[in-house]
Amino acid sequence: MVLRFSMFAAAVLIAGSAYAADSKAVSEEDGKYLDADGNPTYNIQADGTVDWYTYSGFRMYHAECHVCHGPDAMGSTYAPALKDSLKQKNIDYYKFQEIVSSGQQNTAVQGGSASVMPAFGTNLNVMCFIDDLYVYLRARSDDAIGRGRPAKKETKPDAARKYQDECLGPPK
Ligand code: HEC
Repeated sequence: MVLRFSMFAAAVLIAGSAYAADSKAVSEEDGKYLDADGNPTYNIQADGTVDWYTYSGFRMYHAECHVCHGPDAMGSTYAPALKDSLKQKNIDYYKFQEIVSSGQQNTAVQGGSASVMPAFGTNLNVMCFIDDLYVYLRARSDDAIGRGRPAKKETKPDAARKYQDECLGPPK
């Protein structure tokens, strides 16, 4: 099947928030928040409630990525702290998709041993949640959320349910 990366048009304007300008949500459509460039971003309310995608990203990260990249994106002896990588290496939404789908080798680690980020391009459990993963890591890298499972979250939007069903396809 062809994987579709979601690009939502800006629809509803949101009141300003305190986060770094580049990650600031300026619009929202069906529970998905977008920055000024139209890329997915997080939205954390004053009482700590996170948007659905940040929460979902937390879950998917801990299902698919933490075994190498450590809990809460803190890194391990084997793979870099993604909490820092996004900023330090200027990994934007498109670069992120590229690395996760195609993999990457020996750019991150000091020392002699081979360092391999596997390609997840054919893994629907990762690729169908690429926006969720990116939004969660963006929030972690801006310190907009701390370690651990976010305590409060927005309800799962119908649009997320629909996209997920279409992307994952019928149960095999
Ligand atoms: C089998 C271990 C493993 C798993 C699982 C894994 N990664 Fe990686 N990842 C690595 C290694 C090792 C690197 C460093 C590769 C290099 O040296 O360039 C890396 C690099 C990356 C980078 C680039 C970071 C940088 O500093 O250059 C991103 C982004 C990334 N991984 C995202 C993910 C995401 C998202 C997931 C879960 C869907 C994931 N990885 C799962 C091992 C893994």
